[in-house]
Amino acid sequence: MLMILLGPPGVGKGAIARKLKEAYAFEIFSTGELLRQEIRDNTPLGQMVKPLVTQGKLVPDDLMINLVKERLMARRNLVLEGFPRNVAQAEALQGILEDHGLTLDGVLNFSAPEAVLKDRIRQRRICTGCSAVYHLVNCPPAVEGVCNHCGSPLSKRADDDEVFLQARLDRYLTSSAPLLNYYRETGLLKEIDAEVPLLDVYYQVLASNVKFTQESF
Ligand code: AP5
Repeated sequence: MLMILLGPPGVGKGAIARKLKEAYAFEIFSTGELLRQEIRDNTPLGQMVKPLVTQGKLVPDDLMINLVKERLMARRNLVLEGFPRNVAQAEALQGILEDHGLTLDGVLNFSAPEAVLKDRIRQRRICTGCSAVYHLVNCPPAVEGVCNHCGSPLSKRADDDEVFLQARLDRYLTSSAPLLNYYRETGLLKEIDAEVPLLDVYYQVLASNVKFTQESF
């Protein structure tokens, strides 16, 4: 089972990917998380992409495509989150999947009004130790500012800064339309209403593909 989650910043792609991982042992391939880890580890790649990622700007396609080529293994149950971001990346991904003998089972497009996205981004907090994600109202930590899982302090993601927020959302809207058309033409694209509570989003995701209810995917 191989799914792609598409949607604007803050819509809940990461939150749903983590639920799928818990319930079905899906592996998550998140290009955003992969880049943030490189930045935390201060690797040469991390140093190169840091100025772009922290300002919510896209990393160049050739770099991203090579990274996915290098790191995407042939896995049975995989959720791709954050990649592809445009048609060039989608075409490259198709080639990479074919090389691994993989086929896509579905592409889910999450959407929610801009005001909801902004609220979720403003209230998001990340664990500086284990990268667990919180929302100050919808999913708060048990102790303010402290991760439930590892006890490390929570902080805002650098790219969630108010200064970059509007440009980041606008950039997504401009670049995503051709990508959505690309997947619409494949017949694989399904729309997910992500404005509703997380559990309701999750049920829509499960209902989107019959393979979720089959044990053998
Ligand atoms: P990436 O990590 O992909 O970030 P993004 O696209 O900006 O998406 P977010 O992580 O902000 O949103 P999300 O949908 O995962 O929201 P979440 O689940 O956390 O990319 C980061 C950067 O890396 C990019 O800007 C770029 O620089 C670079 N990059 C990555 N991939 C690239 C690529 N392919 N090409 C080029 N550059 C690339 O939810 C948000 C909050 O809301 C959370 O607090 C959550 O708890 C809460 N929440 C979620 N859903 C609900 C709900 N239904 N109800 C209530 N609360 C909810």
